[in-house]
Amino acid sequence: MQELLNFISSIFLLLLGTPLHSDKQIESDLQPVTVTPSGTIFGLYNVTRRGRRFESYRGIRYAEPPIGDLRFQPPKMIDKYESPVNATRDGHVCPQAWNNCCRTPPYEDMDEDCLFMNVYTPLKKDRKTLLPVIFFIHQSAFLAKTARSDIFEPNYLLDRDIVLVTFNYRLATLGFLSTGDKIAPGNNAMKDQVIALRWVQKNIRAFGGDPNSVTISGCSSGSVSVIAHMVSPMSKGLFHRAIAISGSPTKIDKMPSDQYTWAEKQARLLDCPTTNSSVIVACLKTKPWRDFARTYDKFYVFDRNPIHQWDMVVENDFGQERFLAIDLMEAIRQGNMTHVPIIINQNTAEFFSMAPPIITNSTILKQMNEDWEMMASLAFLLPKTNLKKALELLRTVYLQNRPLYLNSPESLERLGSLYCDSSVAFPVHRLANLMCRHSTQPVWYFFFTYVGECGYYISPYTGKPDRAVHQDETLYLFPSPYYCEQIGLIGRDAVIVDRMTAMWYNFAKYGDPNPIDADLGLYWPPMTPDNRTYLKISDDLTLHKNLREKRFELWEQLHPIDYN
Ligand SMILES: *[C@@H]1O[C@H](CO)[C@@H](O)[C@H](O)[C@H]1NC(C)=O
Ligand SMILES: *[C@@H]1O[C@H](CO)[C@@H](O)[C@H](O)[C@H]1NC(C)=O
Ligand SMILES: *[C@@H]1O[C@H](CO)[C@@H](O)[C@H](O)[C@H]1NC(C)=O
Ligand SMILES: *[C@@H]1O[C@H](CO)[C@@H](O)[C@H](O)[C@H]1NC(C)=O
Ligand SMILES: *[C@@H]1O[C@H](CO)[C@@H](O)[C@H](O)[C@H]1NC(C)=O
Ligand SMILES: *[C@@H]1O[C@H](CO)[C@@H](O)[C@H](O)[C@H]1NC(C)=O
Repeated sequence: MQELLNFISSIFLLLLGTPLHSDKQIESDLQPVTVTPSGTIFGLYNVTRRGRRFESYRGIRYAEPPIGDLRFQPPKMIDKYESPVNATRDGHVCPQAWNNCCRTPPYEDMDEDCLFMNVYTPLKKDRKTLLPVIFFIHQSAFLAKTARSDIFEPNYLLDRDIVLVTFNYRLATLGFLSTGDKIAPGNNAMKDQVIALRWVQKNIRAFGGDPNSVTISGCSSGSVSVIAHMVSPMSKGLFHRAIAISGSPTKIDKMPSDQYTWAEKQARLLDCPTTNSSVIVACLKTKPWRDFARTYDKFYVFDRNPIHQWDMVVENDFGQERFLAIDLMEAIRQGNMTHVPIIINQNTAEFFSMAPPIITNSTILKQMNEDWEMMASLAFLLPKTNLKKALELLRTVYLQNRPLYLNSPESLERLGSLYCDSSVAFPVHRLANLMCRHSTQPVWYFFFTYVGECGYYISPYTGKPDRAVHQDETLYLFPSPYYCEQIGLIGRDAVIVDRMTAMWYNFAKYGDPNPIDADLGLYWPPMTPDNRTYLKISDDLTLHKNLREKRFELWEQLHPIDYN
């Protein structure tokens, strides 16, 4: 059987005009090798959490370097590698702010030439059939982070029979500049993601991955990207299932078709004239990428607000290949999308970590109490429609009409809930409720409340995580050495890793997260409009209904939509 498959794949490669190396001739004890339609790629071996060896190919260039004349241009796919690729080191990190917050590492290896991909796959001898592919889109507000292997380690997921693909895409101004005209129609970073998906279609079979079973997945802005691919005509046919964790593009405002004011702001920050878009873009093209990265922090008005800056746009038609031609929420409501099975979730305290820097800083706190209108509309991404009413109502309901007090635990809770609901929780609620009405495919909804040894938020009172915040669910899918020691094989955290990876694997393989080869102790049914069941993941798995619907009524009243 294996011989037959090898034979068929050799014929396949031959038809695509690839020189026929025999894997066995050049593969060594040190380096696995994969012969793809685009060329030969060498990797390294590595070992998973459970001690299983796998093949790791890091730093594969999937598009031409987006530098020089290609800056602010759509990506160009690489069809053929001129010489074998020695994919043993991660590619460069895309330019981003120097002083990243939190516990992220300094990225010394930044460069504008950053369109690289990593592919992780079980050993050839362990691949009996083509394996489902999990294509992971990294998070961080389209402003930061990277797919680098120390940030997203494959060591948990590769205990399952899957092929994992992670990759970088352009960030901030260099990825999202959109003047709304033909000079810069926008969405270049999203087109990077599409090119990465096309690369997967072309080459993943050689790594043992099934191009007809690709699960696009992502957290936060990665999740927003997942939904956008479901709608984009460019992404059609490139994926088959979706996992959208803790992020939704169903913002209250309609999507814009440009981010001209951000372009002007960037121009001013780099001493460029702002006469018109051709002048702006011509000047920005002359600036070193380091200068962009140095200014990114200056887009914040206070602390790290507003958290959403660069984003995708609905592209006007200038004859270019458009990533988005229709508002995302509208597309979902019309069912005008690629219908695939999807998992959606939110965590207990999304974006809670935005609250402490405010509650502990007397200057910012004073400003927030005194200029609620400006500060709240920025912090909570409030649209212009119904703004006055929103500002009043949010202050009444979330803050009980009281000022915020310095270092007050109660104020922290109140402000934290407001960040949670405005930034992620309510948009995700909208997404799940729209999707289960308009998708022909099942929607599974979960609520992640598990608090383990590690977390993205450490309580100042206990010195430990005390709630499930934004991104915490990813700690059980990817070892994240800057936040957590690798989770072992026993203990509470280990159980969560086993469950999460079982669900992911099962969903990627069968389009249903209920594991066939592991017992969750219950059956997790999809959410339907009339029976809005969700799975709560804490130490136990339990089923509930109507996730936080009472709490979100206020938002529904402020910004009503017709869900049907
Ligand atoms: C593999 O193992 C080495 C240690 O030998 C480690 O430094 C490297 O980053 C690991 N990860 C991957 C994905 O190859
Ligand atoms: C790939 O790079 C490593 C480290 O630089 C080197 O040891 C190895 O020989 C190279 N392999 C190939 C096939 O060029
Ligand atoms: C943009 O401004 C420059 C400088 O004033 C001018 O030469 C050019 O014609 C303008 N372009 C457009 C498209 O208006
Ligand atoms: C669906 O969206 C596309 C743009 O993505 C648009 O061209 C098309 O007209 C829409 N179809 C319907 C039926 O509205
Ligand atoms: C408080 O915020 C102000 C204004 O953003 C900033 O300049 C100052 O450094 C902050 N203070 C502390 C202690 O973080
Ligand atoms: C709703 O879903 C739950 C869980 O699958 C099931 O037990 C219950 O019977 C369903 N209720 C209705 C009214 O369909």
